Amino acid sequence: MSSNERPVEVNEINAAWSRRGASKDNGTRKDQVLSAETRLPRQRLGVNVDHVATLRNARGGHHPDPIRAAHLAVAAGADGITAHLREDRRHIRDDDMRRLKAELTCPLNFEMAATNEMLAIALQTLPHACCIVPERREERTTEGGLDVAGARNALKPVVDQLKNASIRISLFIEPDPAQIDAAAMIGADIVELHTGSYCENVLAVDSAAIQSELVRLTEAARHADARGLEVHAGHGLTFNSVEPVAAIPQIVELNIGHFLIGEAVFSGLTPAIGRMRRLMDAARSMGADD
Ligand code: PXP
Repeated sequence: MSSNERPVEVNEINAAWSRRGASKDNGTRKDQVLSAETRLPRQRLGVNVDHVATLRNARGGHHPDPIRAAHLAVAAGADGITAHLREDRRHIRDDDMRRLKAELTCPLNFEMAATNEMLAIALQTLPHACCIVPERREERTTEGGLDVAGARNALKPVVDQLKNASIRISLFIEPDPAQIDAAAMIGADIVELHTGSYCENVLAVDSAAIQSELVRLTEAARHADARGLEVHAGHGLTFNSVEPVAAIPQIVELNIGHFLIGEAVFSGLTPAIGRMRRLMDAARSMGADD
């Protein structure tokens, strides 16, 4: 147990997770949520290195280097690296993205707003995937998912141009069937389900709200999978909140950043990623916590 998280949260989440099994009418009984097999396929872990750059930028020099952290993350078990080049360059900068692409051999997931500037940089960088996110200058982090249903006409040309360059397209959305349908309609390959509300409820130790967010995530993952979309999830996940999300069968990748980089201050990046990996694996095998 990390020093900054209270055991009660684990109990609350696990209680909520178990209670899903008792629910008769929401279609998310635990034995349906978890496959009949005892072990689900391994889930990929994408590590977001944005906040290594946040720390570096606090002093304006070169240390700590997010690319060095990316190499370490891969050595520690990350399957891919995510970085968000924000319009205001508050953390990752253009040269970081260029170096990540040049140096990494694992998939690079380029998070970006759907702007002409970012589209041009993505087409120059040619990452494995682009995850299109909403972006507002005044926000501290990506608050809420992309309104794909409301902005289909604006998003479609961006999606088309990236796809023409053989870049996989992920759209970061709320776990909402209307957004999933719109994502499928404009040709996305992947939807990344925003886990922010679920994680906030975990922090608030609100077990009813945790349960209802897990139902929403589970149903959205099923719906997206049925529409032929690959399903990812992320935002705000911690050691305490990761397992129930990792156990959703259709979710094949989690993207986790801030918590891992914060935890690295106390334990080092390698142990932090190793523990997250073990928790994900345990959830996929219906096994116990590490
Ligand atoms: N996925 C997306 C699309 C994000 O925008 C972020 C935050 O940059 C994350 C995952 C990771 O969130 P966190 O840093 O809270 O783990």
